[in-house]
Amino acid sequence: MSGPPGSRGVVVAAADEIPVGGRKIVEVDGRSIGVFHLPDGYVALRTTCPHESAPLCEGILTGAITSPGPGRYHYDRRGEILRCPWHRWEFDVRNGRSWTDPDRVRVRSYPVTTDGGPVVVHV
Ligand code: FES
Repeated sequence: MSGPPGSRGVVVAAADEIPVGGRKIVEVDGRSIGVFHLPDGYVALRTTCPHESAPLCEGILTGAITSPGPGRYHYDRRGEILRCPWHRWEFDVRNGRSWTDPDRVRVRSYPVTTDGGPVVVHV
């Protein structure tokens, strides 16, 4: 259950409770946190959207469309872009940063460990 120094680990799910591609929204110390199971591990974000406080972690996970030039585009990062259900602001689920304004807008993210056992969020 080792996390960053000064953090406290809280068990939020059993080892096999959240399927890959799934999520669980939990309450920790009065904070709502979304825990997402990505193909390579878990990530956790504060549920509250920094725009107007929608339940961001209830939004869909989609991908990113980028374009190297006119008429060409790529769709990648499938399942890693979290779209707010109210006004569709998008966030990188891996770090909580806004997809369009990553230096100014973000939602808090929390480290997650499993150590082969239950899912632990460090707050
Ligand atoms: S409340 Fe999330 S985009 Fe507006």
